[in-house]
Amino acid sequence: KMDKFIADLMQKMTLEEKIGQLNMITVGFDVTGPVVSKDVDASIRRGNVGSVLNTFTPTAARKLQEMAVKETRLHIPLIFGYDVIHGHRTIFPIALGLASSWDLTAMERSARIAAEEASADGINWVYSPMVDIARDPRWGRISEGSGEDPYLGSQIARVMVHGYQGDDLKKNNTVMACVKHFALYGAAEAGRDYNTTDMSLVRMYNEYLPPYKAAVEAGAGSMMSSFNDINGVPATGNKWLMTDLLRTQWGFNGFVATDYTAINEMTAHGMGNDAQVSALALNAGIDQDMVGEIFLRNLAQNLKDGTVKQEQIDVACRRILEAKWKLGLFQDPYLYTNEKRAKQTMMKKEFIADARDIARKSMVLLKNSNNALPLKKTGTIALIGPLATRQRDMIGSWSGAGDWKQAVSLEQGMKNAVGSSVKIVTAQGANFTDDEQMIARLNAHGGELNVDKRSSETMIQEAVQVAQGADVIVAAVGESQGMTGEAASRADIGLPGQQLELLKALKKTGKPLVIVLMSGRPMTLPWEDKNADAILETWFAGSQAGNAIADVLFGAYNPSGKLTATFPQHVGQIPLYYNHKMTGRPYAGVALDKYKSRYMDVSNDPLYPFGYGLSYTTFQYGKPELSTSSLPMNGTLDVKVTVRNTGNYDGEEVAQLYVRDMVGSITRPVKELKGFQKVMLKKGESRTLTFRLTPEDLKFYNADLKFAAEPGDFQVMVGGNSRDVQMVPFTLTAQ
Ligand code: IFM
Repeated sequence: KMDKFIADLMQKMTLEEKIGQLNMITVGFDVTGPVVSKDVDASIRRGNVGSVLNTFTPTAARKLQEMAVKETRLHIPLIFGYDVIHGHRTIFPIALGLASSWDLTAMERSARIAAEEASADGINWVYSPMVDIARDPRWGRISEGSGEDPYLGSQIARVMVHGYQGDDLKKNNTVMACVKHFALYGAAEAGRDYNTTDMSLVRMYNEYLPPYKAAVEAGAGSMMSSFNDINGVPATGNKWLMTDLLRTQWGFNGFVATDYTAINEMTAHGMGNDAQVSALALNAGIDQDMVGEIFLRNLAQNLKDGTVKQEQIDVACRRILEAKWKLGLFQDPYLYTNEKRAKQTMMKKEFIADARDIARKSMVLLKNSNNALPLKKTGTIALIGPLATRQRDMIGSWSGAGDWKQAVSLEQGMKNAVGSSVKIVTAQGANFTDDEQMIARLNAHGGELNVDKRSSETMIQEAVQVAQGADVIVAAVGESQGMTGEAASRADIGLPGQQLELLKALKKTGKPLVIVLMSGRPMTLPWEDKNADAILETWFAGSQAGNAIADVLFGAYNPSGKLTATFPQHVGQIPLYYNHKMTGRPYAGVALDKYKSRYMDVSNDPLYPFGYGLSYTTFQYGKPELSTSSLPMNGTLDVKVTVRNTGNYDGEEVAQLYVRDMVGSITRPVKELKGFQKVMLKKGESRTLTFRLTPEDLKFYNADLKFAAEPGDFQVMVGGNSRDVQMVPFTLTAQ
């Protein structure tokens, strides 16, 4: 039915109208790049527009939709796309935080709620999930993804796609997902945004591509090209990537959009003039030009010049029309623009409750000595730091249509939790930064920093005085939301500004020091780790941040998050990730060993490894038991491990299973995550968990890019993080 409808429609379309379908313009609200489309109304009426970016609310979307449907010759409806990244109106933790929950149901729920709200708000296409594997915390956009692991990243990609799209895209409460940024954007050299990526195919296939592939297999309706080049060809003009890999090898049948003005930017990459990059992108397999209007201005001439073929324009046009069909827009162009539904849906009570629960699941307890946490609900707490009272930062960067004025600050959340039983006194203590240029840049892009103009000595002194009158210090420190996300790479990933000086001064008071950290990336925290009594990583936790953090601080919720990106000790160790290769000269901790793979000045170890996170209780793992020590090619291997809650609180634990392939036709990682289970164990309870492995889990892409498992020796490892594991060997046999 769809094919016939679209074939009939395309019969009627002029070349100009077909090219119009490939064009996306941006209208209003929130501009994410340097170009704003002009003459919007006239372009839509002419049939020069296929989709619209940055328009939402049923009224605004309906106005433009009516223009397209009522006033264009062929009445083709528009697609409305928007950056719904970690929630739409109800904001959830940033993606790196969501991933740290290791709770796939919670993550899917966040996407489902985002889809409910966005679809009621005029939007039918969202630029999420962002599935770029990132091993470099200098890169600001590490905050938007799931971290460093391809296995976990793939699981998350699948549930997020399903959360947005549901089982039926035609329903009015589902939206089309756009998987981004295809591909390898997270591997930008030196962690500098938009930078070059150069990578072997073996690494690509094994370590970076799996989450994109998983999203395709989950039925994602669209993909977005990345800004970076890949082995010399920008992704947006990369035929191998967009056609050979994505369509021929993976069978993707949705459409591919560019990132914002990414075709135009290929001229700066040195790929030619506008006309040349236009042809390059179309021939590579790009279907939609986001805001750059390169296709609109060049494709007709490209066709005349013979640099593109009519057939390729038709293919791209058909894919856009198919997306409109799949979204149900040809049946009802106003499916997503119902005012009444919008009013009933946004920030519903149950969504807010879920946002709070999901937020607390995402927090990672990095340190807790002397039972500093949970806090007692008595006495006086000094809540100090630039994030103590702020609402603005709680929802993090890329928080779409989220309203930070509706977010719960940490101070408010703590007050809600303790009522009048605890006195909470506050001081800012430090600015996020005192660097004028950085302040100006952050403010120009919606940072709204409250810069205290007094000297940092005065601010610190004031904070110390406040702390002296308290029983315990809660230091709310970290990054402001604008210091993470797009175009927010940092070369120094320690606490910015004078915050470390503030902590050092607070430490001298001798009071227990609890750090509530907010950040969009792993940070270097060597002093903090040594000197603070407790550190709780809370990311940017969303609309309910303050309440959720207070739940953890006062013990209403026992923290259960685990890191999905390694925290290095020092920025010079980057890239530092758990699933690295062995070298021929591995360092085994013998101090005087010189000719080993090591630094002279810093150890090779992370500060906090992948998978790490504490709880208020403790868990003990028994030795893994295998159903067999020799796994045949058509067999299964059950790994049983008993986990016991040995502490004083009920709590959840993320049990992780890793595998090492001891000998391979290519060098293999020292461990790879192959399974995890998040379980709730009551105080004193123990449970035997079973993980099932099959040879499928042991497959990898070899030097010929053949995906196969190689018989031989393996180690299976189970534990509560990637470092503290117990190992058992097994063999994969050829038969
Ligand atoms: O979705 C984003 C992308 O992640 C970065 N550039 C702009 C796009 C649309 O706003």
